[in-house]
Amino acid sequence: MQFNLAVLPGDGVGPEVIAEAVKVLQAVGRRFGHGFDLRYGPVGGVAIDQTGEALPGDTLKMCQGCQAVLLGAVGGPKWDDPAAKVHPEDGLLALRKGLALFANLRPVRVLPMLADSTNLKPEVVRGTDLIFVRELTGGLYFARPKRQWRTSRGRRATDTMTYSEQEIERIVRVGFELARTRRKKLTSVDKANVLQSSRLWRQVAIEVAQGYPDVELEHMLVDACAMRLIQNPTYFDVLVTENMFGDILTDEASMLAGSMGMLPSASLSGVPQEDTRIFGMYEPIHGSAPRRAGMDMVNPIATILSVAMLLRYSLGLATEARTIEHAVEQVLEEGCRTYDIMNEGKTKVGTKQMGDLIAAKVGG
Ligand code: IPM
Ligand code: MG
Repeated sequence: MQFNLAVLPGDGVGPEVIAEAVKVLQAVGRRFGHGFDLRYGPVGGVAIDQTGEALPGDTLKMCQGCQAVLLGAVGGPKWDDPAAKVHPEDGLLALRKGLALFANLRPVRVLPMLADSTNLKPEVVRGTDLIFVRELTGGLYFARPKRQWRTSRGRRATDTMTYSEQEIERIVRVGFELARTRRKKLTSVDKANVLQSSRLWRQVAIEVAQGYPDVELEHMLVDACAMRLIQNPTYFDVLVTENMFGDILTDEASMLAGSMGMLPSASLSGVPQEDTRIFGMYEPIHGSAPRRAGMDMVNPIATILSVAMLLRYSLGLATEARTIEHAVEQVLEEGCRTYDIMNEGKTKVGTKQMGDLIAAKVGG
């Protein structure tokens, strides 16, 4: 089969990890007889340098004409001046909003051979297999008012946490649908003891639960959740939460897997269900890591696993997705490690070599 994909390498280590992910994608193409038509475009800092905009209209249009988007990372010190008119991160937020990607899936799986690569006790993290469903186009990131201004008594600033019941309903539904395909347990994370937006969130979650009697719904306050995640991560199956809470909790949860370099993500414009293909954008959660750029050292696995998610959710290629995941596990099983997951007695490899090894396991 023939597929059109938009590829946005972005800044920092983005281009390096994307190169390895494309290598693996092409191996999948050869092995399974698929053709991937890849269209490259600028976003983030590189786009600001080229066009003055973090998300040029042409890049957005190109993405809209494709079946899915593969993104590296955006940002870097060159564009960090808080007084600047435009920041690379604006490009990412504009992609999320412009492509209506309201559901951000961030799976955290502790692979058995990496359980002792984390800062936490191996016996605590072993067996962790959870997935975050983070709301991605609302809340503090997008709701208005959102501004800074001057008053006679000094400067002030505001961001707004607003949610409509429709926004809550569709994201909670994603949580329930995913839970149905897994261990049938959904934790809805909020701050309903303080926030009105969270009280509405909780009410809507309870209403949506009526349609999913086979899934157990539980509510957890975000602060308690932050604690429980490192105290007893195997407790969780699917977690659903609003944008900012999800941003913070998923960085925390990435430490369970040993490194941010291991965690893929999918941002979807619909509810994932079997036999449906949803438009989505796929990216590692680790960001642009500018200090490590150009050194052939970062871990490309998060981006390679993001390709697996792309194949599964946007192209309906579950077997191909599984093949990539299996190839990653085999290479780790054989003892190859990038610096971030390196351990005694293992073989240290660079970004390119890791990509080559995984592509070779995929075959093709
Ligand atoms: C993430 C990142 C982004 C976010 C930044 C880069 C804007 O931290 O994807 O988690 O806050 O959503
Ligand atoms: Mg984040």
